[in-house]
Amino acid sequence: MSIQPAGRDSFGSRFGVIAATAGSAIGLGNIWRFPYVAGENGGGAFLIIYLLFILAIGIPVMMSEFLIGRGAQRNVFGSFKLLAPGKPWYLIGLMGVAAAFMILAFYTAVAGWTLEYIYLSLIDGFSGMNSEQLDVMFTEFRGGTWRPVLWFLLFMGLTAFIIMSGVKNGIEKYTKILMPVLLVILVILSVRSLTLPGAGKGLAFLFTPDFSKITTSTILEALGQAFFSLSIGMGTLITYGSYIAKNENLGSTAVSVALADTLIAVLAGVAIFPAVFAFGIEPGSGEGLVFITLPNIFQQMTGGYFFSLLFFILLGVAALTSTISVLEVIVAYFVEELGLTRKKATWLSTFSVSVLGIMCALSWGVMRDVNILGFNIFGLLNFTSANILLPLGGLFIVLFVAWYLGREKARDELSNQGMLKVTYMPLFLFIVKFVAPIAIALVFLQGVGLLKI
Ligand code: PFF
Repeated sequence: MSIQPAGRDSFGSRFGVIAATAGSAIGLGNIWRFPYVAGENGGGAFLIIYLLFILAIGIPVMMSEFLIGRGAQRNVFGSFKLLAPGKPWYLIGLMGVAAAFMILAFYTAVAGWTLEYIYLSLIDGFSGMNSEQLDVMFTEFRGGTWRPVLWFLLFMGLTAFIIMSGVKNGIEKYTKILMPVLLVILVILSVRSLTLPGAGKGLAFLFTPDFSKITTSTILEALGQAFFSLSIGMGTLITYGSYIAKNENLGSTAVSVALADTLIAVLAGVAIFPAVFAFGIEPGSGEGLVFITLPNIFQQMTGGYFFSLLFFILLGVAALTSTISVLEVIVAYFVEELGLTRKKATWLSTFSVSVLGIMCALSWGVMRDVNILGFNIFGLLNFTSANILLPLGGLFIVLFVAWYLGREKARDELSNQGMLKVTYMPLFLFIVKFVAPIAIALVFLQGVGLLKI
């Protein structure tokens, strides 16, 4: 049972590891979700809490996932089964697979919107429209039936295609090309947005903390966003960790990926908030924020046609390098635990996610009247996965490393069996043993209303 699976696919280079992992982390979470969640939660103060969570909790959880996956060389469920035989820790793996289904469903629905916006950019569909008209256009599109569903299915198909091609020839090959381009475009857009008249207000919103805006639910939102953005808490990075070579430095990989992810989220904020204020849009306008503000910038800037097209292609690409990582969690589980071929596993998971995903895509259309706890289907999956399943998963992952695996095994894996110096070890252990579990538990219990301090 504990022999290494022979001929397991893996990443081929250090850059490949970073591209794939940063590809998973950087996505709609940074460019679409971060700005609107920050917008709804007061801007600057939210940003500070978010950064704190990334540093103090996000990076250690990411390292924990890497070391579990690389140690076990298995999918998320199999890793816990192998490292803790006969113990119920594998339930974390099952929760991860469930979270993967939910995230993939609603996330791919938004990824489908990017395809509609690529199409609109191609036909110059935003030209001459003011922000109100752009708002109406987005609302009408999202409330439709065929288009959101077809775009969703197309995006699922693209994701499945890459996953079928494998880890090295699929995931790694595509992310290595796509990630660097994304950064360049975002920098160009931020510069353009900053030079809009009235941009200062947007920057002030993003960077001036107003702590009176902070409530317990804001803190939970910041934690959920940090987990979501780093792709942690559900075993995506356990799965990717299992493809990382034994001589890679897991600690420095985690730090690089977290920094790149944060940089991109802040850059997205810098590209979006000045435009929000320059065009008089509500910063708390929810999931439509990016799809309304950015077309507004594009159609007023020189070369807007070109940038709009490029931006939405890249937004789609950023989403794709993330959706593949979520699908891989399910596929690796099906292949290694149910004994399916990669192809069959991909078909099965794509089909089942699609049933849920179509409901998400229709959440503002024919299924708009479905209301669960005040959410539509999309909102329910978005909230439950990011703010509940990921923090809970993260909590159990650090508890597993700190209290079950223990210091020796963690140190062996993080130091590549003693080849690397890991002077950070006492700090890491202190965080995974005490800081992260206590902080996650407190924020979580407060945020869902089970604890009042
Ligand atoms: N981190 C991705 C983003 O920010 O867009 C979304 C994501 C991918 C969440 C993978 C969770 C995950 F396991």
